Amino acid sequence: MLSTPVASRRGAEDSVSTGMIPYNAPMQQDTRAGTGNGRALKIIVTGGAGFIGSALIRHLIATTGHEILNLDKLTYAGNLDSLVMVAGDPRYRFIRGDIGDEGLLRRLFAEFDPDGIIHLAAESHVDRSIDGPRAFIETNILGTFTLLQAARAHLETLAEARRARFRFHHVSTDEVYGSLGPQGSFTETTAYDPRSPYSASKAASDHLVSAWAHTYGLPIVITNCSNNYGPYQFPEKLIPLCLIKALAGEQLPVYGKGENIRDWLHVEDHARALALVFESGRRGETYNIGGNAERRNIDVVTGLCDVLDRIRPRDDGASYREQISFVADRPGHDLRYAIDSAKIRRELGWTPRESFETGLAATVAWYLDHPEWWRAILARDAATARRGLKEPA
Ligand SMILES: NC(=O)c1ccc[n+]([C@@H]2O[C@H](COP(=O)([O-])OP(=O)(O)OC[C@H]3O[C@@H](n4cnc5c(N)ncnc54)[C@H](O)[C@@H]3O)[C@@H](O)[C@H]2O)c1
Repeated sequence: MLSTPVASRRGAEDSVSTGMIPYNAPMQQDTRAGTGNGRALKIIVTGGAGFIGSALIRHLIATTGHEILNLDKLTYAGNLDSLVMVAGDPRYRFIRGDIGDEGLLRRLFAEFDPDGIIHLAAESHVDRSIDGPRAFIETNILGTFTLLQAARAHLETLAEARRARFRFHHVSTDEVYGSLGPQGSFTETTAYDPRSPYSASKAASDHLVSAWAHTYGLPIVITNCSNNYGPYQFPEKLIPLCLIKALAGEQLPVYGKGENIRDWLHVEDHARALALVFESGRRGETYNIGGNAERRNIDVVTGLCDVLDRIRPRDDGASYREQISFVADRPGHDLRYAIDSAKIRRELGWTPRESFETGLAATVAWYLDHPEWWRAILARDAATARRGLKEPA
């Protein structure tokens, strides 16, 4: 049992409590044939209360027999309301804690005895990284370092067969590759060229993970994914931000001329890809994940307006497009990202199920049906405020 007080919550409706986390009796670890053969595994998911981490946990609990320990600090971006549907499941545990807390990690690894880690905990918003880069360095770089060291120490305690099956899955972004011109796409061998404090901190963490594989033999996989969208996304990101502002009758801020291009992927397609890479990806490999859905920001916002016009028309009958407003660009705004995901498609048979158009319509419908989810966030955080205009250091 954990000896140090760590806050534990099984659902958003519960208050944060301190105390010990009851773990189930150990599973039959040494008789399991291994990662990827369909057997139940014990997995630490970091950042599981965030947008992608919660989608991954919902997916794993619904479709596998895996046991999940969600380690999340609950920063402004962490939200247990996104996990209420799994909160009561005996295969799910939540620990509130920091990935940079060495002592906590040591205890968690010893007591949960995981078969692997899927590491998503991060500071993730580029605009916030421009205003306050320190948290990005601390969590994304130092936090990943601390987690790698804990995983290394844990690995040494495992018997040979389990050691061979163990995976440290590091979840990263296409932003590490920098910015593309009008042609081409990022492959797994594209040279890193990060441009923002966020992408630089993620690039640094990717390099640490690779170095721990090469130097210490840590069994890793890395995934680099394009822009995600979908339900439960924090309303500082483009799609929920504009959606909520549209409903409030406010201006929809489009940076610069709206010409920046991103490759959009529905978060549930990402979650399926992560589960597949964790279970079946080749050790030491990187897999790029993308939706093959490049869209200019202005087209994303007009597309969003068109969906709203159809399903929640404005009272005055005008189009939501009238609320679009071009605002000062993000400093150093990368022009274009595009992912070549041929490797994961070829090796693991993954393919996105959602097109951008169907996914966007479903996402808009979800936000309209779940105002309580995002209104609770707006009540506690200035989530839709403009950030990242390069204030003095
Ligand atoms: N959102 C995207 O489009 C996208 C695309 C590609 C890759 N990624 C990567 O995927 C991961 C998850 O992204 P997201 O959009 O879900 O982010 P998010 O900001 O929604 O969630 C991050 C989670 O990490 C937690 N966290 C932050 N610092 C922590 C710490 N020190 N210790 C423990 N937990 C901590 C937060 O509380 C939050 O729950 C990140 O690593 C991000 O770089 C995101």
